[in-house]
Amino acid sequence: MRYVQKFTSAEINNNHEIFKERLEVYKDAGLDFLASRKYIFDKVSLPKSKVLDIGTGRGLTCLFLGEAGHNVVTLDIDDEMLKIAALNLDYKNLLSKVQLYKMDTYSIDFEEQSFGAVFMVEALHHIEDLNKAFEEIDRVLIANGKIVLSDFNRKGMSVVNKVHRKEGHEHASSSSGRVGAKKWLIEHGYEVKEYEDGCHWVLVAKKEVA
Ligand SMILES: C[S@@+](CC[C@H](N)C(=O)[O-])C[C@H]1O[C@@H](n2cnc3c(N)ncnc32)[C@H](O)[C@@H]1O
Repeated sequence: MRYVQKFTSAEINNNHEIFKERLEVYKDAGLDFLASRKYIFDKVSLPKSKVLDIGTGRGLTCLFLGEAGHNVVTLDIDDEMLKIAALNLDYKNLLSKVQLYKMDTYSIDFEEQSFGAVFMVEALHHIEDLNKAFEEIDRVLIANGKIVLSDFNRKGMSVVNKVHRKEGHEHASSSSGRVGAKKWLIEHGYEVKEYEDGCHWVLVAKKEVA
């Protein structure tokens, strides 16, 4: 279902201040989210095609994609995350470039070959059934499309766990990770390039279709 909501300027500005503070807290703890997105985008060249961003979260990846001029569809199962992302997009006037959907990655309600690229950044560790999620991603990706996957490495996960503990809650993590993701992609005909920065690993996968 499409997520659409109208916000007041006070809500947009208030959310922006909270978002900025959160980025600073992580930066002080050793995880620079903005630098990590720049790193990922430096590794990928994309045509100006329609892009799917899975696991919207607070919206950093779809903000970068929208700012780069892509038409983006982003999906998340969590209403609160969709609201924060929508507020962040509204702050940057990007709601015309980025469409938000409340949707589960296990059941993506778009037709086969709808997207030129699929991004999943910092969401894989929430995914219990990697095979089911990747079958859906593969289905909605065009032939020769790209999958861009990134998640926290050991250092990144330790920073995230530390910040979550300080905030009084535990950060849940599934067993899905880089090794399983790479194996699945290669077994399904993708050519995979691997990168790593301070707190993230990145896989850029391209399906070779004759
Ligand atoms: C850490 S956030 C992702 C950060 C985001 N990609 C960014 O760049 O700012 C992970 C998100 O994945 C979402 N998520 C978890 N399981 C999901 C599923 N099955 N389908 C869609 N989204 C899911 C969570 O609700 C959460 O908002």
